[in-house]
Formats: sequence, C-alpha cells, structure tokens
Amino acid sequence: MACSTATLPSAFTQFQSLPPRHVFIPKLRIRIASVSKQRRFNCKRVEVKAVSTDLQNGAISGEVNETGSSELKKDRQTNQSSSKLVLVVGGSGGVGQLVVASLLQRNIKSRLILRNPERATALFGDQDKETLQVVKADTRKQEDLDPSIFEGVTHVICTSGTTAFPSKRWEDDNTPERVDWVGVKNLVSASPSSVKRVVLVSSIGVTKYNELPWSIMNLFGVLKYKKMGEDFFQNFGIPFTIIRPGRLTDGPYTSYDLNTLLNATAGQRRAVLIGQGDKLVGEASRIVVAEACIQALDLQVTENQVYEVSSVEGEGPGNEAQKWEELFQAAQDC
Ligand SMILES: NC(=O)c1ccc[n+]([C@@H]2O[C@H](COP(=O)([O-])OP(=O)(O)OC[C@H]3O[C@@H](n4cnc5c(N)ncnc54)[C@H](OP(=O)(O)O)[C@@H]3O)[C@@H](O)[C@H]2O)c1
Repeated sequence: MACSTATLPSAFTQFQSLPPRHVFIPKLRIRIASVSKQRRFNCKRVEVKAVSTDLQNGAISGEVNETGSSELKKDRQTNQSSSKLVLVVGGSGGVGQLVVASLLQRNIKSRLILRNPERATALFGDQDKETLQVVKADTRKQEDLDPSIFEGVTHVICTSGTTAFPSKRWEDDNTPERVDWVGVKNLVSASPSSVKRVVLVSSIGVTKYNELPWSIMNLFGVLKYKKMGEDFFQNFGIPFTIIRPGRLTDGPYTSYDLNTLLNATAGQRRAVLIGQGDKLVGEASRIVVAEACIQALDLQVTENQVYEVSSVEGEGPGNEAQKWEELFQAAQDC
C-alpha cells in the first residue's frame, strides 16, 4: 500500500505567555495513507498511520522521526499565518496538549486557559506571545472567565475534564460535576456571540449512563454531567461541534514517562471511525481526537453536530481536511 508522509503538528520554537513563559517543543509526525472506503458500523473507515508525539526532547523510536527546529521553522514559514485565535481549555491535558501542538504547527494563534500557567512552560517551550498566550483561569469560577479572555477569540476548543472516579485530581472539589457541568456552562455562557465555533470534547455513552456498562463509568456522575454540559451548550446558540471519544489512548505525554509512552505508541496504526447517535464503542487515540477538534473548526458540515469518534488499526485521514470532511459527512449520512 502506498503511503505518503507528512508532518502533523510538529515542533515549535518560542512562545511567551502572559507574562512571558518558557515552553517546550512538541514534535509530531504522521504518515498518511489513502482513505479506504471500507464500511464499519455503517460508517466510512479512515485510518491514521504511525502517529506519535514528542513533547519533550526525549528520543523517539519506532516509525516516528524527529522534526528538528530548523524544519519546524521552515514549516512555520511556509504556513500562512492564520487569522484565527483559538481559545484552548485543558491545554495541559492529554488531548489539549496535542491540540496546542497542532495549532502551533499550523501557525494558528492560540490562547490557553490553564489553572497552572507554569505548565505551559514545561510543555511548549518559548513561543512568540503573538502565537501562544497563556491565561490563568479555572472554568469553575465564573469570575475567572471575564470578557478579556475572549478578546479577539474566533474559535474555542474545550478539552477539560477530570477523572471519572475519586482521585487526587478531585482535590479542591474539582469533580466531574464542577468541571464537566459547571465549568462547561460557565465557559459557554461567557463566550461572545462573535465566536464562530466552539468544539467540546465529551464522551461516548453520555446518552445511556443508566445502562450497563456505562452506569459503572457513571458511578460518580461523569457521563451525566457531561451530558448536562452538552445540553446547555447545544441550547446556547453559539455554533458548536461536540466530539465524543471512546476510551482515550496515546498520552497524556509527560516528562516522566515520555519514552515509555512513545515506545508504546509509535508505529501503531490508527484508523478513524466516526458515527452519530451514541452507537460507537471502543478506544480513540488522543492524536485522532485532537485532529478531529481542529478539523471541526473550519468544516461547515460539522456545524451544530455531535459525533462519536473511535480509532482502530489501519490507514487514516492524517491532517487532510477533505478526508475529514468525507468522514464527518459519511457519519451524517448513516
Ligand atoms: N480518559 C478517557 O478515557 C476519556 C474517555 C472519553 C472522554 N474523555 C474526555 O476527553 C477529554 C480529554 O481527556 P484527556 O484525558 O486528554 O484530558 P486530561 O489529561 O484529563 O486533561 C484535562 C484538562 O482539563 C484541565 N482542567 C481540569 N479541571 C479544570 C478546571 N477546573 N479549569 C480549567 N481546566 C481544568 C486540566 O488542567 P489541570 O492541569 O489544571 O488539571 C487538563 O488540562 C476530557 O473531557 C475527558 O473527560 C476521556
């Protein structure tokens, strides 16, 4: 099978937050194969090949190649600067860090809302403050989401979340109720009508949280609260796209286990399945979910739509908008 190779969200150079921060340089590389027309779950199947990420300077093994900073600079010079300013919520998390990486690679400006802005320093290295801004805010606190955060923002991607079961991450009442319901409600309520699209990462199973096996996952309400957040969002009136992934794989990438994670994921084949109606099951690569969020920003077909996303072995759409459009459209046609 013939495959072409293209860089996906790659490395970055510098950024300064507000105030200036030091950042890391994620490196991603993706091999893209052609779209296969196989049908599964009555949906078009598209597969992603050999996707991996380096959010540290650690070695990458397997099929993934490093992208040097000179290559990155070249990438960014050749990419036209975008007029978008994307507000990213959860940029320090698994999907969020990949979203930020990809936006940087595409030369799309972003503003991160983080409870701990210092985390951006560790993750993304030094970036131009025009390209990447960091604002300290907690979505549970309405007062943190003041209008200045949305100044100039054209799109929003929300990837925030916490654990489904009690954990250290629930400290200070950072529970699913507070993050997936109150936080999403606050974020959406604060979003000005000028925002062209808000993309929310939710979860499969939210419409059937009283049924097994979802009721187990929902023991502490995570699916119920995600659905409440979704419903509020859908009724608010801002153009939206909801992405409901299956169980997430690939990442989060941290400085502590980066090499382990990369060794575990590099070389895996990831195909993308997209459905509607909360029927899909299975796992979803965070890399695929991040790409789905970014693609959804621009595709008219995804406006005011809810999709389930999972990934399996095979070839994929990579970062090709047309292939993603076909996938999203096919899900609607099912
Ligand atoms: N894990 C799964 O298998 C799975 C399956 C389906 C759906 N999902 C959903 O998919 C999304 C992405 O998952 P993930 O595992 O990639 O994310 P993650 O690593 O858990 O990251 C969550 C992000 O949310 C941020 N956050 C948490 N509470 C916040 C608050 N009060 N205010 C602002 N930011 C806050 C975190 O920042 P801090 O560093 O400040 O905590 C972090 O950046 C989440 O909505 C998750 O629930 C996950």
